[in-house]
Amino acid sequence: MPRPNKAALVAAAAKARQSAVAPYSGFKVGAALLSKRGEVFTGANVESASFGLTCCAERVALFKALTEGAADFVAIAVVARAAGGPMPCGACRQLLAEYAPSARVWVADSGALEKISELSVAGLLPKPFVLLKRPRR
Ligand code: THU
Repeated sequence: MPRPNKAALVAAAAKARQSAVAPYSGFKVGAALLSKRGEVFTGANVESASFGLTCCAERVALFKALTEGAADFVAIAVVARAAGGPMPCGACRQLLAEYAPSARVWVADSGALEKISELSVAGLLPKPFVLLKRPRR
C-alpha cells in the first residue's frame, strides 16, 4: 500500500475491525499501525472465555508489527462503534508509550469514519513506566 494518509489509515483500521473476534462483548475494534517506511500493520481484538486473556486491537497490531521487524511508528488508527472514536485502554497506552512513543493516534467511530480525532501517545499516557529509554530489539 502506498504511504497512507489519515483517512486511508482509518479505513484500514475499519476494515481490520471486521476481523474482530469478540463473541463475549460484541464490541469490535480495529487498528492500523503505520511505520516510517510506509508499512501498515493491522489488528483486531480477540476475546477469550477467560476474559482477562483478551487482547485489544491496538496490541494485536503492535505485536504483529514488532514481530515482523518493523519499528519507528508514525501513526496508529483505531476504529470502533464509539461516539467520538474509541480511547485506547491503559494497557495499550503503556505498550504504545514503549514502542510507538511519537505515533499520532487517530480515532474514529465506525459509523462516522470521516470524523477523525487526533491524539498523541504522550498526551494519553504522560508519565509511562520505562526501564529502557530505547527498548532493545
Ligand atoms: N478493546 C480494544 O480492542 N481496544 C481498546 O482500546 C479498548 C478495548 C476491546 C477489548 C475487548 O475485546 C472489547 O474491546 C471490550 O472491552
